[in-house]
Amino acid sequence: MTTDAAAGLEVRDFVAADHPQVVALLAANLSPFEPGTEELPVIVSAFLEQAHVEAVVAVSSGRIAGCAFLFINETVRGGRIGQIEDVAVDMNCRGTGVGRAMIAQLVDRAKARGCYKIILACSSNNVAFYQKAGFTADGTSMSILIRS
Ligand SMILES: CC(C)(COP(=O)(O)OP(=O)(O)OC[C@H]1O[C@@H](n2cnc3c(N)ncnc32)[C@H](O)[C@@H]1OP(=O)(O)O)[C@@H](O)C(=O)NCCC(=O)NCCS
Repeated sequence: MTTDAAAGLEVRDFVAADHPQVVALLAANLSPFEPGTEELPVIVSAFLEQAHVEAVVAVSSGRIAGCAFLFINETVRGGRIGQIEDVAVDMNCRGTGVGRAMIAQLVDRAKARGCYKIILACSSNNVAFYQKAGFTADGTSMSILIRS
């Protein structure tokens, strides 16, 4: 957990009780998919059972202002690679260091868990944000969308 008292910002572990707010935050700020309310308990318990995940939320004035997730993959040659996914900051909280604080926390956690690199895919309009967090462009990201 990290706190920035001056900004009233805390970055802490995601817990099951955060799940509905985080799902709504991602749907409103990243991509529109939202699972059904009745599915949430099963989804969050399966999610939290994964040992290879670091999940954080940023809390500002008692409300969840952002979320970010790190998935740690083990390669066949024994290397650990962290992959950042589902980073979003509430529209009303952007530009105040919330995203920066969450990414810094995930980078620290990836280092602590022995990752030798961290990867992510982002749109061109977020390149500057990640560059300021220490990332550099590295090749071209590709994907196949199997299900939207
Ligand atoms: C991208 C996003 C997470 C940034 O979060 P944020 O809390 O607004 O970012 P911060 O306030 O921590 O910004 C940190 C620095 O990056 C800069 N920055 C943030 N977003 C930027 C952007 N899109 N382009 C250029 N610079 C940006 C800020 O100005 C700040 O610079 P400074 O250190 O010189 O002051 C947020 O805009 C967001 O949720 N966007 C919609 C969802 C999304 O695209 N997620 C990313 C998926 S890869």
